[in-house]
Amino acid sequence: DWTMAQFRDAKIADIREQVGDGKVICGLSGGVDSAVAAVLIHEAIGDQLTCVFVDHGLMRMNEAEQVVTLFRDHYNIPLVHVDAEDMFLSGLAGLTDPEKKRKFIGGAFIDLFEAEAKKIGGADFLAQGTLYPDVIESVSFTGGPSVTIKSHHNVGGLPERMNMKLVEPLRELFKDEVRDLGRELGLPDVFVGRHPFPGPGLAIRIPGEVTKERCDILRKADAIYLEEIRNAGLYDAIWQAFAVLLPVRTVGVMGDSRTYDNVCALRAVTSTDGMTADVYPYDSHFLSSCATRIVNEVKGINRVVYDYTSKPPGTIEWE
Ligand code: XMP
Repeated sequence: DWTMAQFRDAKIADIREQVGDGKVICGLSGGVDSAVAAVLIHEAIGDQLTCVFVDHGLMRMNEAEQVVTLFRDHYNIPLVHVDAEDMFLSGLAGLTDPEKKRKFIGGAFIDLFEAEAKKIGGADFLAQGTLYPDVIESVSFTGGPSVTIKSHHNVGGLPERMNMKLVEPLRELFKDEVRDLGRELGLPDVFVGRHPFPGPGLAIRIPGEVTKERCDILRKADAIYLEEIRNAGLYDAIWQAFAVLLPVRTVGVMGDSRTYDNVCALRAVTSTDGMTADVYPYDSHFLSSCATRIVNEVKGINRVVYDYTSKPPGTIEWE
């Protein structure tokens, strides 16, 4: 597509002009946006770029390995892999308020980037895969007074002390355009087609306190749900699908015994930009088989519900 090729070339020129001979550090989240931003910036400035993958322990099943493999092996882009699970989980301990959780995670990311930047002798720029809808949603809610719906950790001012400027080459783009750009840059289709995944990861899919045990339970349920979606050939028809772990226990029966375990909610929406969304209309057989598998295979969950809320009034993520 010639328009995307032109956009790519123009952005490469912009990045070169903005960065000069400075050093750029780029945070990879595992999602499409930060990956596309990183590959684009790498095309522009090569080894002036250092990519940092902060593994906060809030990733989905096997996701961390996939990211590391893609960048190191497929692209040969140098990647620093920071294992920060303990730091994130200990900081999240006791936090239940959604905004406090988001703010802690955003702040911890900044601290880690700062530490990594120091290790490479200082970086002049921080690159992020911020998209246009992130910018709008973090700024205000259309038609009303200025209200922050959710503080996206990848948008907004950096602490003064950081002394780094932002490089955000995707700031004007919507998700479908980022995917086109990713294909233009040669990213594999399976990667480009991945559903969006939020920076704060599973932390915002576990209402209430985030613990390692809850993350492990959620990872298993989510992997089963996504496997069912792929097997049914539905993955590409859905904008985003995921499991949510509710910290609510209900009574059930398995074999001859009573169970008293958590509830898992399944979410799936269609959308073009994430700003509005409709519920994906599964047939009930599909949902029943997901529920059966999750309850049978995941210890800690004994009930599964489906979220039928569109956006608005719901948001896509639960926090
Ligand atoms: P909501 O839940 O606000 O989400 O309807 C809209 C889209 O944005 C994603 N999302 C985030 N992405 N950092 C991100 O990179 C964040 O903090 C964040 N919060 C939500 C969400 O997954 C959906 O695709």
